[in-house]
Amino acid sequence: MKLYLFALLLPVTTSAAAQCKLTTQHDSWPTEADWSALNNSISGQLIQTVPVASSCWPGNPFNSNVDCATVRSNWTSAAFHAQRPESVDFPVFTNNSCIPPDSPGYTKAQGCTLRGLPQYIVDATGAAQAAVALKWAADRNVRVIVKGTGHDLCGRDVSKYVILYYASVNDIRSSGANSLSIWTHNLRRIQFHNNWSPENCNSQEHWSVATLGAGWTWGGIIQHADKHGKVVVSGGTPTVGIGGHTGAGGHGPLSAIKGLASDQILQVTIATTQGNVYIANDYQHQDLFWAVRGGGAGVYGVITEYVIRTYTSPRTALATLQVQAAQNTPNTIGAAWNATALIASSLPDLMDQGITGTGFVATGSLVDQFIPDAPSPAVGPVSFVALNAFNTTSVAMNTTLLPVVDRIRRELGTLLTIKYTPPIEFPTFWEWFNASSKPMPVAYYGIDSSRLLSKQSIQIPVPALTQKIKDLMTPQDSTFGSVLVLTMAAGRGVADVPPIRRGAVLPAWRSSYIHAIASTAHIDEQLPPAQAMAGAGAWLNDNTELRWDAIQRGAGSYVNEANQFTPEWKSRFWGVNYDRLKQIKLKYDPSETLFVAQGVGSDHWEYDLNSGKLCRS
Ligand SMILES: Cc1cc2nc3c(=O)[nH]c(=O)nc-3n(C[C@H](O)[C@H](O)[C@H](O)COP(=O)(O)OP(=O)(O)OC[C@H]3O[C@@H](n4cnc5c(N)ncnc54)[C@H](O)[C@@H]3O)c2cc1C
Ligand SMILES: *[C@@H]1O[C@H](CO)[C@@H](O)[C@H](O)[C@H]1NC(C)=O
Ligand SMILES: *[C@@H]1O[C@H](CO)[C@@H](O)[C@H](O)[C@H]1NC(C)=O
Ligand SMILES: *[C@@H]1O[C@H](CO)[C@@H](O)[C@H](O)[C@H]1NC(C)=O
Ligand SMILES: *[C@@H]1O[C@H](CO)[C@@H](O)[C@H](O)[C@H]1NC(C)=O
Ligand SMILES: *[C@@H]1O[C@H](CO)[C@@H](O)[C@H](O)[C@H]1NC(C)=O
Ligand SMILES: *[C@@H]1O[C@H](CO)[C@@H](O)[C@H](O)[C@H]1NC(C)=O
Ligand SMILES: *[C@@H]1O[C@H](CO)[C@@H](O)[C@H](O)[C@H]1NC(C)=O
Repeated sequence: MKLYLFALLLPVTTSAAAQCKLTTQHDSWPTEADWSALNNSISGQLIQTVPVASSCWPGNPFNSNVDCATVRSNWTSAAFHAQRPESVDFPVFTNNSCIPPDSPGYTKAQGCTLRGLPQYIVDATGAAQAAVALKWAADRNVRVIVKGTGHDLCGRDVSKYVILYYASVNDIRSSGANSLSIWTHNLRRIQFHNNWSPENCNSQEHWSVATLGAGWTWGGIIQHADKHGKVVVSGGTPTVGIGGHTGAGGHGPLSAIKGLASDQILQVTIATTQGNVYIANDYQHQDLFWAVRGGGAGVYGVITEYVIRTYTSPRTALATLQVQAAQNTPNTIGAAWNATALIASSLPDLMDQGITGTGFVATGSLVDQFIPDAPSPAVGPVSFVALNAFNTTSVAMNTTLLPVVDRIRRELGTLLTIKYTPPIEFPTFWEWFNASSKPMPVAYYGIDSSRLLSKQSIQIPVPALTQKIKDLMTPQDSTFGSVLVLTMAAGRGVADVPPIRRGAVLPAWRSSYIHAIASTAHIDEQLPPAQAMAGAGAWLNDNTELRWDAIQRGAGSYVNEANQFTPEWKSRFWGVNYDRLKQIKLKYDPSETLFVAQGVGSDHWEYDLNSGKLCRS
């Protein structure tokens, strides 16, 4: 015991300027006694990584206590991965280190190893403990990753009153070889206050807030908030975690009304790699507070607790509209494209009238996966929009929507099948959210390209927009098809956020209406993970990424749902904030222990999924 403590205090020889983070192959990789000493200093909260699917690999040394049948039946469940300390939703980003038979990317030859998984995991119970582990790793040149949900995903299922969601798969940020992972799942404080004041506050501010441990996902938060008659600006699906979502901005059903999720943060508790714990808010550690609100999760420190604004839960109305060609003729298919553009161009005006929601346009085999009650096989594009309005009546919402529906009927109605479901009302936000959300399957391969689009670039004459949307949606594989998701995520609610609440979110959000996500690439799952993902990324770079320029040149892109392979990631994801964010990153994490692909500070590092090495480039 004494010896362990002594070992902890020994000066460590690895320097902050080392060329690479340690791998298990380095002589200076901590010994088992070192890890054991760390474990003692954090109350025994250290876990040695056991890949859950190792039970599917007879003879492997890990001894997973979850039998293979259970792993296989739960492999596409986000909730299952969230409950596991090591598992992520999209194992392609662990180099398919240990996956069960029949899951995408499985080959017998790859076996079951720790490869792209962390070596050890801290099941964090508080900020001070996280700080000890962070400093321990920083002193030894060991890479640290942070896992909230391991969710970084894609929605491919819908229920009757859908919340539709499609997001890019970027688990790569919560996975990483040769690392120590800080797992926030069990940080579960949740409290609601009506008259909260920030720590060290000289003003007379009082806010209606929730205090939330970083282990919470939005579904649980909204459900608890409802018991207090409250609501929060959440993500669009219940399994999204507060950590990664708010770290980069975070949009959801209420963002177009109240601002982004990160705009709601009034205080964070954060542990850093120098072993400090800061309570950051408008009055103290303002630089750090600015950075963590939109400047990217997982690079400044580990946030253990958030204080966010709450609002009175609104009555919530939902309406849907679905449009597709009535027959398989060029003219009707043309009409379906025209209707798609007509709907898209009308979204900003609807948003100005308090309507929000998500639109989908799908072609090829993706129609089946994204559009409820779609014809099979689909002919041409199928468009579907789920729209919400708050604090209003179904009659009033109907009145707002009917001009758009009537215009489609009038101009193109004879050539289309049009299904309009007039608004229905839910007494609270939670009742709508709960009725609408279904768990979405995970563990497949995916990558998208996205842009934040202004009102001016969408609200253009329909013929011009039609052509641009058709071009944009050109799929890599026409049988597989493509999807365009139009999230009504920004608009006035985001533009009207006062400067002090804006944090470091990409400024393009403030002048945008639609966060548009195009899923056009088709990934070859037979290739090794690094090649498969990079290949799809390269196809996007040469095709879809260029086509956005016809809609809006130089538009920003929301890092949480984007093509992580874009060479322009620095300006697209972080904009003018990059340099200041990097200074703050280096101030609070001078050893650069925290690395996130395309995150702030990643420009002089390279992570090779194939070798598991993280080195200066
Ligand atoms: C099904 C699905 C639906 C989605 N819906 C939406 C949506 O409606 N709106 C939207 O804006 N985005 C959405 N996204 C994208 C989502 O915002 C990102 O995937 C986000 O990274 C998820 O965060 P997480 O904490 O759940 O994931 P994790 O994989 O646990 O974390 C993601 C990143 O955040 C870091 N991180 C997590 N917690 C902390 C912490 N406490 N401190 C420091 N760093 C931390 C991790 O290191 C990692 O880099 C969706 C994604 C999926 C898969
Ligand atoms: C850490 O200590 C706890 C409590 O003693 C123990 O259960 C756990 O196995 C230890 N972890 C490691 C990695 O040794
Ligand atoms: C795993 O699957 C089984 C049935 O196949 C189910 O009963 C169980 O709830 C699932 N567990 C999780 C954590 O999803
Ligand atoms: C709904 O109305 C209540 C009461 O006026 C208000 O507090 C709340 O912010 C409104 N919510 C939305 C989403 O507009
Ligand atoms: C919406 O308007 C249509 C057309 O006028 C009408 O048939 C329908 O009943 C209205 N629904 C609601 C909820 O107001
Ligand atoms: C939430 O949804 C589940 C099933 O979808 C249902 O059983 C439950 O009653 C719902 N809860 C509320 C409060 O609506
Ligand atoms: C669709 O719009 C194009 C112009 O973009 C027009 O030429 C064509 O006739 C329209 N199709 C239908 C069926 O209205
Ligand atoms: C990653 O997977 C590929 C095969 O898919 C393999 O060749 C490579 O060695 C793996 N990397 C590591 C670090 O194991």
